[in-house]
Amino acid sequence: MPAIRPGAHGAVITGWGSAVPDTVVTNADLEKTIDTNDEWITSRTGIKERRVGGTTVGLSVESGRQALERSGVDPAAIDGLILATTTPDRVVPASSPVVQDQLGLSCGAFDVNAACSGFVYALVTAHGLIAMGAEKLLVIGTDTLARITDWTDRGTAPLFADGSGAVVLEATEGPGQLLGWDLDADGSAEKFLYCDVGGLIMMDGKEVFRRAVRIMVDSATKSMQHAGVTAEEISHVVPHQANIRIISAACDRLGIPLEKASLTIHRTGNTSSGSIPLALADSLDNSKIAPGDLVLLVGFGAGMTAASAILRWGGVS
Ligand code: ACO
Repeated sequence: MPAIRPGAHGAVITGWGSAVPDTVVTNADLEKTIDTNDEWITSRTGIKERRVGGTTVGLSVESGRQALERSGVDPAAIDGLILATTTPDRVVPASSPVVQDQLGLSCGAFDVNAACSGFVYALVTAHGLIAMGAEKLLVIGTDTLARITDWTDRGTAPLFADGSGAVVLEATEGPGQLLGWDLDADGSAEKFLYCDVGGLIMMDGKEVFRRAVRIMVDSATKSMQHAGVTAEEISHVVPHQANIRIISAACDRLGIPLEKASLTIHRTGNTSSGSIPLALADSLDNSKIAPGDLVLLVGFGAGMTAASAILRWGGVS
């Protein structure tokens, strides 16, 4: 699917930020409460420690404020806020209006729930709003999965954690940064990963793993085709940080060296909607992405959903 219709406005990311809670839970900490060990968790998932605590609103306000400051955009000038989250602080209202208030924004605000694909869903939606005339948007991805994790279940407790990342997106002359995108969902896979209202995450890890690699590769391939680029041309990949073996297998099948991937999983665990923007912010903070680079964002999650986007960093004029 083409990214932007001829004549429509393009967009570029002009600011980014991230936030994680202070409390660190190491693999050694988990050894004290469940039948597991550091060697198993590290080799099977790539995770050494994770951050837990805080609220979705609190983490979103922190990452959102950083993104606004870095962009230099006056909060009053933001035309809309999209918050990707699968763990809103309340069922009603959505968390985004509360974040909007605390950041001093005066604009529309809504949540998007596409689990770990949520940030890419929100980013693509934001590009659509800019194509229709919005000028400046704040897009945040945040999850506080620790609150819905069964800390006695060794199949899920080592994986899930809390975190947030945010970007400011601004309209630009020309086509902007988004060259191709793909949003997918397959609700028939709901049973493999879900959480009832008031419940805890239930997961068939093996089945999710098996599907994850395939749907990430399928989605990324579609985005690259829409963008008219090849895997060799990709400068940097920002994958959902669920499991290092999933990231590695997906990169391998796509023909993209793992060295080109953002990797934060060893210290963040799986922060769902927070995962991709957190990893993106980390790569930007460490100067791993430069203007002109082709960046692939790709995620998968409960639903099961998948989403990807190809960005020309800095935009195409
Ligand atoms: N510590 C030690 N041993 C363990 C643990 C643990 N925490 N968990 C399982 N084991 C044991 C099992 O009992 C099994 O032992 P056995 O061979 O004697 O029976 C062995 O390790 C292998 O177990 P598997 O379940 O086959 O382990 P696997 O290699 O599949 O790894 C994992 C499990 C890490 C959950 C993996 O399947 C996975 O990452 N799946 C994808 C999960 C995922 O990404 N979910 C997030 C989706 S995104 C979203 O929307 C939130």
